[in-house]
Amino acid sequence: MGSVQAPDGGCGERLGREVPDNQGGHTVRKCIEHDDLGCPMTRINRVNGQGPTPCPIMLIGEAPGKTEDKQGIPFCGKSGSELTYLYLDKCANISRQNVYVTNLVKCRTNDRDRDPSQAEENACSHLLVDELLKVKPRFVGLIGRLSSRWLLHDVKMEKMHGFGYEYDFYPWGVHIGIMKVMPLYHPAYGLHNTAMMRHIMEDFTRFGRLVRGDTNVMWKERKE
Ligand code: URA
Repeated sequence: MGSVQAPDGGCGERLGREVPDNQGGHTVRKCIEHDDLGCPMTRINRVNGQGPTPCPIMLIGEAPGKTEDKQGIPFCGKSGSELTYLYLDKCANISRQNVYVTNLVKCRTNDRDRDPSQAEENACSHLLVDELLKVKPRFVGLIGRLSSRWLLHDVKMEKMHGFGYEYDFYPWGVHIGIMKVMPLYHPAYGLHNTAMMRHIMEDFTRFGRLVRGDTNVMWKERKE
């Protein structure tokens, strides 16, 4: 099997190595930018972030799904249309056009959308730091447990979702300022679970309030 140029320029300008097809008829490519960093991902497209740069509002998901991998656009599948038309538009009252949307990990995990491993997260997350430096968001919605944990470390979603936290972001010694961040339940959980859908709608409603300056959605340490 020869080497081929990945369609998006791949991970950087480098050549993607074709690997045996395990994606139902599609040619998949090994992520080689991160090969030496221990990234075992195979994918069709690297799914880069989408949206204006700089942008005051940023959403960070976990990893692209099957549709995102095919189209090379973050959140363009089923949970993506729920995100765009229900949770953002109707609940948060924010148009997706005004949001920079990205993922913690830029390639689809190869077997049935499992969670990215710690090695994959470590190999890929410098791209996210790079995006944060360029986008310079003031409000960040952390969609799902993995991206919440990446930024806020010791995260208990049941306790922390829907609350805003101030986060002083200092990556690589560069100060980009204080961001207001909020862990949000992932729209994928609502696809087959209407009870969960209500929690997600509430989370995004609160995220919209955070963006509009409502301090009541900020976490306040409760004294017993
Ligand atoms: N789930 C994610 O976390 N990201 C996507 O881009 C799509 C689904």
